[in-house]
Amino acid sequence: MRLNKYIASAGICSRRKADELIAAGNVKINGAVMREMGYDVQESDQVSVNGQMIEAAGRKVYVAVNKPKGYITSMSDERDRATVAELVKDIPERLFPVGRLDYNTTGLLLMTNDGDLAYRLTHPKHEVYKTYVAMVSGVVSDARLAKLRKGVDIGGFVTSPAKVRVIKQNPRSATVEISIREGKNRQVRKMFAAVGNKVIELERIAIGEIRLGHMQQGHYRKLTRREIEYLTNI
Ligand code: URA
Repeated sequence: MRLNKYIASAGICSRRKADELIAAGNVKINGAVMREMGYDVQESDQVSVNGQMIEAAGRKVYVAVNKPKGYITSMSDERDRATVAELVKDIPERLFPVGRLDYNTTGLLLMTNDGDLAYRLTHPKHEVYKTYVAMVSGVVSDARLAKLRKGVDIGGFVTSPAKVRVIKQNPRSATVEISIREGKNRQVRKMFAAVGNKVIELERIAIGEIRLGHMQQGHYRKLTRREIEYLTNI
């Protein structure tokens, strides 16, 4: 969408006034002043007018959040705990989380206002691998790795094959990378418990090809056009 139309459709002003704001250097794209009225705004662009971020009406927004501990993955909480909605509160659109992470799990959470995409991504038949780094107690022996890879019973449900590798084994704990396709409640914690290791820290580092990368906890970034295409093609 053309930049002047985009600004107007965010409900800030008329298209003519938008042209004036652009010409005066009051409009930035991804932090840099943009003076081209006809600039074609991309899904991944962050547009600000007079320092305020804006979104055009009806636009689909896709962000990757690095969830800290102590946030629940929902939009409100009757117990008044912090919710992930607070992490994206400067985005005018109402975004909701795709799937969930436990209160104490950190890392990659996708948030969007695209209901279709959220539904498809969380549907079991799509089989997107979600990758976690877990710090667990004790030794993750080859026998335990073999069980995790094959599938374990986590209380009435046998998990499907997982990809698992030990990154580092210390005397009393281990750092393990594990990729799973399902998203049962507390699944990674239950899988390790089933083989005798307790999860101490858990971080999600990837959902399919979307990677957390180097983003500070509590921060978010918009997905790139390629990442959005990847997700919509799943
Ligand atoms: N598995 C868990 O145990 N917790 C999460 O938050 C995600 C996957």
